[in-house]
Amino acid sequence: MSSTVLVTGGAGFIGAHLVPQLLDRGDRVRILDNMSRGDRGRIAAWVATGRVELVEQDIRYGGAVHQAMTGCDRVVHLAAVSINKSEADPYESIDINVVGSNNVFKAAADHGVRRVVFASSASVYGDPETLPMAEDGPLHPLTPYCIAKHTGEQLLDYYSRRSELSWFALRFFNVYGPGQKPTAYYTSVINHFVQRLRAGEPPVIDGEGAQSMDFVHVHDVARAIVMALDADAARADVPVNIGTGIDTSVAELARTLIAAVGVDVEPQFRPRDVLVSRRAADISRALDVLGWKPTIDLRTGMQDLVDSEIA
Ligand SMILES: NC(=O)c1ccc[n+]([C@@H]2O[C@H](COP(=O)([O-])OP(=O)(O)OC[C@H]3O[C@@H](n4cnc5c(N)ncnc54)[C@H](O)[C@@H]3O)[C@@H](O)[C@H]2O)c1
Repeated sequence: MSSTVLVTGGAGFIGAHLVPQLLDRGDRVRILDNMSRGDRGRIAAWVATGRVELVEQDIRYGGAVHQAMTGCDRVVHLAAVSINKSEADPYESIDINVVGSNNVFKAAADHGVRRVVFASSASVYGDPETLPMAEDGPLHPLTPYCIAKHTGEQLLDYYSRRSELSWFALRFFNVYGPGQKPTAYYTSVINHFVQRLRAGEPPVIDGEGAQSMDFVHVHDVARAIVMALDADAARADVPVNIGTGIDTSVAELARTLIAAVGVDVEPQFRPRDVLVSRRAADISRALDVLGWKPTIDLRTGMQDLVDSEIA
């Protein structure tokens, strides 16, 4: 099913893996991105194919979003300001992640867009009391970023009741892979460990390293987005977890990266009282409604990351 897909924030990390998958199946892509974090070199190469257009605009400007929506029948909404700055600058976070998202969803509804795929986040759950985390479980969004992701899901529900659009809000867990910025909030620990290991130094872990994350490879995340663009509308209008279902502790991560980099060191543990939070997705809905499951295991994915020039 080829179409013109509007990808907001398509110049960023997940977009870098999504756009080639869309082009591979024959879609045309219009990227709406203010280039605050985007990669200009990569976009220029895509634009040169004649099948990708860059609209350098900000989702905070409703008029620009409306104009960019013209002629698009599907939308992937990735543009957001990340969780890092959310508490320091809640105004910007709400402006981009709530007002900007509303602009995208309202324009999609007005233009008769059939499917919106929204990059939501596992952070809507807050610190879970039990694992795995299921979509219908309790939500405790803790920061303006997390509140905005939850609000985005509710706005989609609102517009879908008043227009033709159907939607999936994909709650991404800890996305990692080639091209990720070293400052990425949750996964910056990967970059930190790799830098130390490359210098022949052991990873240093606070406490016992029991804190865990559910690491999902960005290639699998991009696949999930494509599948959500195509999935049956009768199964749509729901949030869907995109993770692996496996909680990997920081200590396990360190050992996996030691093997991937290939150095002979042991992790060092620094005795500390650490608040241990754990994460693992219940991914049964992703299989049920999208037909999606992860294909890249942690060892393969981390090796891929270490071998890539960017890590
Ligand atoms: N990477 C993860 O681990 C992760 C986890 C959960 C959710 N998400 C969500 O997935 C989406 C994509 O994440 P990413 O890792 O690719 O982030 P990213 O920062 O690499 O990409 C975001 C893109 O949005 C653009 N952008 C930011 N503000 C904008 C604005 N006001 N107008 C237009 N464009 C704007 C940036 O220039 C950038 O190209 C985000 O919505 C993020 O919240 C990511």
